[in-house]
Amino acid sequence: MTITIKNKEEIEGMRAAGRAASQLLDYLTPFVREGKTTNQIDKLAYDFIKHDLKSTPAPLNYDPMGGNPYPKSICTSVNNMVCHGIPNDKPLRKGDILNIDVGVTTQDGWIGDTSRMFVIGEASIAAKRLCALTYDAMWHGISKIGPNVCIVEIGRAIQKFTETQGCSVVRDYCGHGIGRNFHEEPQILHFVSPEAKTILVPGMTITVEPMINAGRKETKGLPDGWGVVTKDRSLSAQWEHTVLVTETGFEVLTLSEGYPELPAFITSTKT
Ligand code: MF3
Ligand code: CO
Ligand code: CO
Repeated sequence: MTITIKNKEEIEGMRAAGRAASQLLDYLTPFVREGKTTNQIDKLAYDFIKHDLKSTPAPLNYDPMGGNPYPKSICTSVNNMVCHGIPNDKPLRKGDILNIDVGVTTQDGWIGDTSRMFVIGEASIAAKRLCALTYDAMWHGISKIGPNVCIVEIGRAIQKFTETQGCSVVRDYCGHGIGRNFHEEPQILHFVSPEAKTILVPGMTITVEPMINAGRKETKGLPDGWGVVTKDRSLSAQWEHTVLVTETGFEVLTLSEGYPELPAFITSTKT
């Protein structure tokens, strides 16, 4: 697959998809609390996507490897889960942290992909700190995006910030180009690698979605073929935005009314 450059009209499609995905997270937010199960949240998401957004959940039946289609509409990754947690019937407990990752495919076929962290009740200081620094790590990466920028600068900014804070960047999963396909080229690595060579061009749409572990960077896949946990069982956090490369910098597409405040070092979601 090659990198797709979106024209004006296609960018409008991506804006609508990004907004829809963010609105879905806004809608889910008041339901994410103690006692709720991730299956209940998944059902709420499916109904909102279908009836309110008139769209479809991109994760549902997504099957990149062939033979193990993703069974739900959202990913819910709790505590030491790094990503791709399949919703289940276990109630959320006080002190849990979780990532909800949503993908929305609009009627026009464009996809918005975004995730946020949620804290159930009062979490530990360490857990809250991990969620907050992962949010800042994502924004440090996004702030580098612009025309003629090499994508390694995104990874460099995220890795440097994260390691300064004493945490580690997951290597086994990355961000990606996005458009009519959930995952397109290029891969967006959240660390420095000689393989990160793509030069950004206006009209590209990519995700920045660092997974940050409180302990070591290594991960382990679960027997369900989707869920991924930290090998050392330490806590893991992730935030994700879909971002357009513009003539002057970037435009974050997965924003809506309920989106949390920008970190102090970011002055605008458009440059
Ligand atoms: N939303 C994930 C991402 O950010 C992809 C999830 S694939 C799924 O790229 F099948 F698990 F939903
Ligand atoms: Co996602
Ligand atoms: Co993504």
